[in-house]
Order: sequence, then structure tokens, then C-alpha cells
Amino acid sequence: MVTKKDWLEYDVEEMVSGDKNSLWHHLKPHKCFENQEQMIIVEGKGLTVTDIRGREYLDATSGGVWSVMVGYGRDSIADAVCEQMKKMPYFAGVFGNIPAIKFANKLLEKLPRMQKVYFSNSGSEANEKAYKIVRQASKIDPSRKGKYKILFRDRDYHGTTIAALSSTGQFERKNDYGPFVEGFMEVPQCLCYRCDFNQSYPGCNMECAKAVEDVILREGPDTVGAIILEPITAGGGVLPPAKEYYPTVQEICKKYGVWIIMDEVVCGFGRTGKFWGHEHYDVDPDMITMAKGLASSYEALSATVVKQEIYDIFLNDPANADERMNYFRDISTYGGCTAPMTAALESTRIIEEENLVERSREVGAYLLEKLMTLKELPNVGDVRGVGLFCGVEFVIDKESNTPISEQQMGALMGNVMAEGVIVGRTNSSLPGMNTIMNFAPCLIITRDQVDTIVAAVRNGIEKTF
Ligand SMILES: Cc1ncc(COP(=O)(O)O)c(C=O)c1O
Repeated sequence: MVTKKDWLEYDVEEMVSGDKNSLWHHLKPHKCFENQEQMIIVEGKGLTVTDIRGREYLDATSGGVWSVMVGYGRDSIADAVCEQMKKMPYFAGVFGNIPAIKFANKLLEKLPRMQKVYFSNSGSEANEKAYKIVRQASKIDPSRKGKYKILFRDRDYHGTTIAALSSTGQFERKNDYGPFVEGFMEVPQCLCYRCDFNQSYPGCNMECAKAVEDVILREGPDTVGAIILEPITAGGGVLPPAKEYYPTVQEICKKYGVWIIMDEVVCGFGRTGKFWGHEHYDVDPDMITMAKGLASSYEALSATVVKQEIYDIFLNDPANADERMNYFRDISTYGGCTAPMTAALESTRIIEEENLVERSREVGAYLLEKLMTLKELPNVGDVRGVGLFCGVEFVIDKESNTPISEQQMGALMGNVMAEGVIVGRTNSSLPGMNTIMNFAPCLIITRDQVDTIVAAVRNGIEKTF
């Protein structure tokens, strides 16, 4: 039951019609609401969420977009935020504040090769900061003059703002929003199951990674400043690259002075069974962006973290005092809120104290093993994943590997939901390929809950096909 406090009180029917009349929901064609009620979530505890009609669901998505790492209903996060807000809620990030200092130190403890932390409010924004750093460095650092272009990978997602979208490899998210920002170039995706080069791993010579060099040479190495990559492509369908992929990309980047920006927005904070997604691979990023799991989404927080040599470009401003323009001229109003860093400190403390990264690795392996059993079904084409981050790709048949239709995928999602389990899917990302179901439960999930999720998916599949 929902606990009713003054400001938490509501009338159910008023809220249902209020939702229909006033809210414009994310990523939804709204015609469906003419004859269907939108689900309104009112409460969460552990992995369970309750909707306004009192129905309970086991959430296998950590809040829909893989971000509530420590589960719902953590009083200690709310209490910490409450105390900090009473003491000092806000002052612009031009000044320091205690939670920001403490959390920056915590991040750097987790990223010993990194030196400086820049806070903002969303994954998109964290990536925008990284792009601004690349662009400004291409103006002010003599050794990087003109290196303003940024490569991104097909099927990766880097955010909703126009530059972040310009660097996103998902047609459905981008279509109609052009013209895009100049200077972003696509490189191929790296999923072995659907290899762009018709190769099979091993023995493929890492052509997907080597294609990065082709694009750098085509564009001109003197113009390419960075490449942005998700350690494991998330919204594009859960694509863990082969282990040789990153070392190959790293070598190419080193050769041409191209920085690696690792977008850990989804993979960070234990999602994949290591604290950072890129730790699964032999790669040494120059910048790391993060959001989502940073504060377990109890508060909005993101960060752009850089190595010393990048920070130094901005520190050592050669211009004279009157002309100073070389410092990083960027500000985000809410980068000065203290509640997000407080929530992040407490969420990270929970992750450490409850060994949730290890749990993600162990229970994640169990989740993958259980999902693998679905491969015996005719419409399950591929099962893949790392830690508590898995994907199941649905096909019409295993000979052609043709994806099922969007309608079938929609019906399947509905049938799983009817079992009381919320799973995710590639959502409005890849036309004709939004057929990958994804699993990214809170890191506190138990093996029993894994069993419940996989049983619901099996029943859903059997009902659909
Ligand atoms: C890998 C990745 N980067 C960046 C973003 C953008 O984050 P936000 O929605 O907080 O702007 C997302 C969002 O899903 C993401 O998955």
C-alpha cells in the first residue's frame, strides 16, 4: 500500500486522467493512450515496483534504463540527501562544496589513471563536455591543432542533445533531427553475431576495429581528435566486443594521437560485474563519462573525468591575463547542486559495503546461464551479456537470422509484462532491429529473482510464437 503523507496524497482517477491530459512521455507514440492507460509507478522496494492500480512487478531493468543500481527504497540515500539539503543545497560549481570534493575523490580512487572530475547532470551533458574539451584542445594546444573531429560507433548511443545525437549510431533516434553537428564520423559496430564484414570470430582479423584506422585516414589524421565508445554497446542491443577489439582500437588511436572517450554511462558502477565496463578489456581511456548509476538515479548526476595531460592543456593558458580564453569555459547550473553527489556517495558506499560488484559478476553469470537455456527455442537467435547486463535477440528463424517484426516484439514484451516482470528492449533505436530484449536488474538481485525473470520470459515467448 502507498503510504500517504500530505504531499504524497493523490486521487487515483485524477492522476490517471492527469497523466493522459498533461504528460508527454518519453519515446512513446501517444496514439496508443487513446485506448490504453499509461502505467504510473508509485512505489518501489528492492526490485519490486508498484503501479497506481496496486499491481506489483519485478523490475529487471533497474528503472527502465539500467540505472537504479542499489535497488529501490534505500532510506539511507534519502536521509543523507535530506541532511545535506538542509545544511547547504546549492551554490554554483564555480565554488567547491563538500559532497562534490568527497565524491570526486571517490571517483579518482576508482580511476587511478584519471586526474580531474567535472560534474554535470546527464549522460548527454557529460559527453557534450568531453566534445567541448576535444574541440577547445584542438584550438589551444599546438600539438593538437585542428584535431576537432570525433568518431563514434554504429549502434552506440551517446545522448539526446544535438551534438550527442550527432555522435549516435542509431538511425531511429536521429532521424528528422538533422542537420547534425559537423565533425562526427561513424565507424562500424562490433557485434560478432551480425558482423558487418561477414567474418566469424576468431579468425576475423578484427576488421571492425581496423576500420577505425580507415576512417581516420579518410578524414585525415590531423583532423581527428577523439573516438567515443560505449565499453559494451547498451541501447544498441547489448554488444560486448571480442577481447581483441579494444587493444586494436587503442593501438590505432595511439598511432594517430586520437583520444579515447569511454562512455561508461550504462556500464559503470558494477553493471557488468567489474566497477567499470572498460575494465573487461585491455584499454586505457583518456576521458571517461558517466551518469545513470552514479547516484543510482536517486538524483541526477553525471561526470566527465580526464587524465592529467588533458587537464594541463587548459591549466597552462599561454595567453596573457587580458586575453585569457583558454580555460574551460563551461558551466552547468545544476552542477552545483549538492544533493546528487551526496546520493552518489551513499549509493557508492552501499555498492562497496554490500559487495554489489562481485554480486553483479556472480549473479550475472547465473542470469546469462539461465538465459542461454532459451536458445533451444526456435525464435531465440542470440544470447549475450556480461555481468548483470544481458541481451536476447529474437529472430524469425535461425537459418536466416531475420529479426522478428516490431509487432511481434511488442506482443512479446506485453506477454512478459503480463507475467509480472518488466524487461527492457532496444527501444526506438534501430528500425527493423528493435528486437533485442535486455536485462539489467538492480545489483541486489537474487538467484530466485533471476529464475522468476527467466521463467516469465520463457512463458512470454511460448505465448507469443
Ligand atoms: C551509453 C549512453 N550514453 C549517454 C546516454 C545519455 O544519458 P542521459 O539520458 O542521462 O542524457 C545514455 C542514455 O541512455 C546512454 O545509454
